[in-house]
Amino acid sequence: MGECKVKNLELAEEGRKLIHWAEDHMPVLMKIRKIFSKDKPLNGISIGCCLHVTKETAVLVETLQAGGAEISLAGSNPLSTNDAVAAALAKSGINVFAWRGLSQDEYYQCIDSVIDHKPVITMDDGGDLITRLHTVRRDFLEHVMGGTEETTTGVNRQKIMAEKGELKYPVIAVNDAMTKHLFDNRYGTGQSALDGILRATSVLIAGKTVVVCGYGWCGKGVAMRSRGLGANVIVAEVNPIRALEAVMDGYRVMPIEEAAEIGDIFITVTGNKHVIDKPALDKIKDGAILANAGHFDNEINIPYLEEISTDWEEIRPNVREYHLTNGKKVYLLAEGRLVNLAAAEGHPSEVMDMSFANQALVVEWLLKSAKRLENKVYPVPREIDERVAILKLETMGIKIDELTDVQKEYLENWKEGT
Ligand SMILES: NC(=O)c1ccc[n+]([C@@H]2O[C@H](COP(=O)([O-])OP(=O)(O)OC[C@H]3O[C@@H](n4cnc5c(N)ncnc54)[C@H](O)[C@@H]3O)[C@@H](O)[C@H]2O)c1
Repeated sequence: MGECKVKNLELAEEGRKLIHWAEDHMPVLMKIRKIFSKDKPLNGISIGCCLHVTKETAVLVETLQAGGAEISLAGSNPLSTNDAVAAALAKSGINVFAWRGLSQDEYYQCIDSVIDHKPVITMDDGGDLITRLHTVRRDFLEHVMGGTEETTTGVNRQKIMAEKGELKYPVIAVNDAMTKHLFDNRYGTGQSALDGILRATSVLIAGKTVVVCGYGWCGKGVAMRSRGLGANVIVAEVNPIRALEAVMDGYRVMPIEEAAEIGDIFITVTGNKHVIDKPALDKIKDGAILANAGHFDNEINIPYLEEISTDWEEIRPNVREYHLTNGKKVYLLAEGRLVNLAAAEGHPSEVMDMSFANQALVVEWLLKSAKRLENKVYPVPREIDERVAILKLETMGIKIDELTDVQKEYLENWKEGT
């Protein structure tokens, strides 16, 4: 039994069933687990994790544990912890400090408990563990060899730290691996954000106008899946190239202030602050549903929404009905936190299989390579990215072609032309 602070250890059996289900849908990670169990590449290493405590994360941390590591785990969002999974992990020897619904203070206490275990490697989703180590808990920095980062927002934060010369150990941007963001951010967020909205509201998507804020990897997936369910999709962007991509992908593109008046469902996925801000909230359509799938709960200006409301009522789990002073109603899902994790189960196991296979292989690589790295943000080595793709195809029973010798030679030759 690990050191733990979880909601209820009696939920462990329920959590174990969820973990088994995820294991059955994460064949790449399970292959890596088999190798790790035999070779023990992480023997005696303390790994500190700040990740969404889901059934898929359980498969990852138990894989690292099988490799010989001691794992300490805190949640990376106050509403994303599955309490049953947390209980099961605590019973299997992981140090778990996480429960759903913790306060801001408790959130950082949990991260501090992870830091108390003197991690040699840190694994972040959003960068709160690294940030804590570089601010309030700097005395523990000396133990850390390197870190990994799971999501876009975290990578953005650590790149700023590196640019300002404030990053004190190398970080590998797992998010930026092709086998991560092309699948997890796009198909994972695409499906699970809609899953969260549906579980919370059960509204019909067909015929609704869905406004997607941000047409990055996540936004592309959310827009694609919304259209697939029959929605009229509008995209709001600030990047002209991405806006143009959205136009050519067949979506209407317009400023959020204009979209505010016609949208039925709004989904923010930008990694930016106050994307739905005062001017949009002042014009928002009566009955609009607001959801966020970006990392932090600041994409919708919730303090302003509260300011222009007389009161709110929790009318269904994860649905707050705000009564605006202008007489309109607006529904905020999951308190503006990641709707796919707070109102559903996060990404399907099959995509997390690739994201977390990268994490596991990167940790193994980092242990061997950290000494020759600088305090910068590095991409995932190409060999790891490709290995994950090869393994995933293999487990899906899909074969592909190989370059012939003639093709290889042709591709390396610039003289052959017309
Ligand atoms: N919900 C999840 O499970 C999950 C999974 C992966 C990533 N994320 C998070 O989702 C967010 C987006 O990730 P991504 O990989 O798509 O990032 P990305 O960088 O590929 O895309 C973000 C897009 O948002 C746009 N944007 C920024 N400010 C904007 C504004 N004010 N209005 C409209 N558009 C704006 C940017 O121009 C960019 O095109 C990040 O916070 C990331 O950490 C969440």
